[in-house]
Parts: sequence; structure tokens; C-alpha cells
Amino acid sequence: MSNVIEVRHLYKNYQTAAGAFPVLKDVNLIVERGDYVAIMGPSGSGKSTFMNILGCLDRPTAGEYLLDGHQVSLLGGNALAQLRNKTIGFVFQGFNLLARSTLLDNVALPLVYSGVDKRTRHEKAEQVLTKVGLGGYLNSRPNQISGGQQQRVAIARALINDPRLILADEPTGNLDSKTSEEIMQLFDGLNSEGISIVLVTHEHDIAEHAKRQVRFLDGKIVHDSYAQPAVMEVN
Ligand SMILES: Nc1ncnc2c1ncn2[C@@H]1O[C@H](COP(=O)(O)OP(=O)(O)OP(=O)(O)O)[C@@H](O)[C@H]1O
Ligand SMILES: [Mg+2]
Repeated sequence: MSNVIEVRHLYKNYQTAAGAFPVLKDVNLIVERGDYVAIMGPSGSGKSTFMNILGCLDRPTAGEYLLDGHQVSLLGGNALAQLRNKTIGFVFQGFNLLARSTLLDNVALPLVYSGVDKRTRHEKAEQVLTKVGLGGYLNSRPNQISGGQQQRVAIARALINDPRLILADEPTGNLDSKTSEEIMQLFDGLNSEGISIVLVTHEHDIAEHAKRQVRFLDGKIVHDSYAQPAVMEVN
């Protein structure tokens, strides 16, 4: 069984007026199926750049990326889009919902691109909205619900294609601490169902929900460890 993510000797430069600006410098990371990884590190250390590459929204300058066993660099636009849609669910800090559409239509949207008929789309959307606790809000619109509920909608949308992997860049960045905790419990539940999760956060208590903590500094991974279970002190 392949690892869900394998990244080897990954580099990313941005082209700027002043020349190539290196942002990722020899990043290596393997994420096994079922893993739960929190990425931390200072602002500007390259976390979002890395997540965008993991999500196939951007390509590396050099290095190897295998997503669910597939060499991403060998895939053309259509094959890559297909692999991404069936493998990854994205959750962003800003929820990115369509303001004028109902929650049902927001969540069903990714299925429009996969050519699923409307009835099946709505059945599946209702199922995932119910899973995230919003079964009673199917026909509400994003401005009629709270920020935490909006993030639940975004998580439901991420789940609609039964992804193996969820990528979340600061998913609780716009939420208060109680609501953040509720969202993290939702992620914990998805991980215990076997979905691999990689999320970026600036908060230690959020990162502690993950099994593994990875730290970026200046475009490199400088720390990578699994959380130790609390040990009682013995006299
Ligand atoms: N499209 C771009 N073009 C040029 N430089 C960029 C671009 N996107 C990001 N950068 C630069 O790359 C570096 C890393 O940015 P990145 O967004 O990956 O950091 P981050 O770790 O996610 O930070 P934060 O915690 O603030 O979200 C920064 O110096 C940033 O200014
Ligand atoms: Mg960022």
C-alpha cells in the first residue's frame, strides 16, 4: 500500500523582479495513510507554499512529489485534476463559500465537475452536511450561519468525493477558541475513520490534536516528531 504523500528533495523558487527567490529548500516528508500531521512555523517560512504544492495547485521548481503513489510531475492537466479531485479535500482559512448558493449547492458543487446527476449530488451533499452536524440547514445560505458553521460547510464540501487526504491551511485561523476546538474534534473524528490529515496552524493547542508535529523554518523542515502520550511522574 502506497503512502498518501511522498516528497523528496523538494525546492520552490518564486520568480521576482530581483530574480529567483527560494522559498522551499530541500523539503522531505512522507505521510502514511491514516496519519494526522500539524505543520507549524513562523510567518513566511513556506507552509502555504508547501500546502499548495501538496494540493497540486502549484508545481515545485525541483524535486519529487508522489500523491497516493502517482508521480505528480508526470501528469498532465486532466489526469492531475482527476487525481486531485478523487484524492484530496481542501479546507481553507477563509471558508471560500458561494454567498448566493444554499449550503446544499455549495457542498454539491465539486460533483458538478465530475458529471454526477443533480439528484445524486443533493443526496450526497445532504449526507455529508448531516455528518458535520448541519443536516437542519440544507437550504440556508452562508450569511445566515456562524463562522464555525461555515467552516463545517467547507469541510462537508471537502468530504463530498470521499477523499483519502484532507489538506487544511489554517482552518481555525478565523475562529474563536471554542469554535476552533469543535472544528478540531470534527477533524479528529475524520482521522479516526482513516482519512489522512495535514493541517497548518499557528496554535499549539490546535497542533496537539494531530499525532505528528512538523515545524518549518526558513523553507526547511527543522522538526518532525510524533506526540508522546503524557507520562505520569514517578517518585
Ligand atoms: N506568489 C508569490 N510570489 C513571490 N513570493 C511569494 C509568493 N507567495 C509567497 N511568496 C513568499 O514566499 C515566502 C513564503 O510564503 P508562504 O505563504 O508559503 O509562508 P507561510 O509560512 O504560509 O506564512 P504565513 O504563516 O504567514 O501564512 C514569503 O516570503 C512570501 O512572501
Ligand atoms: Mg500561510
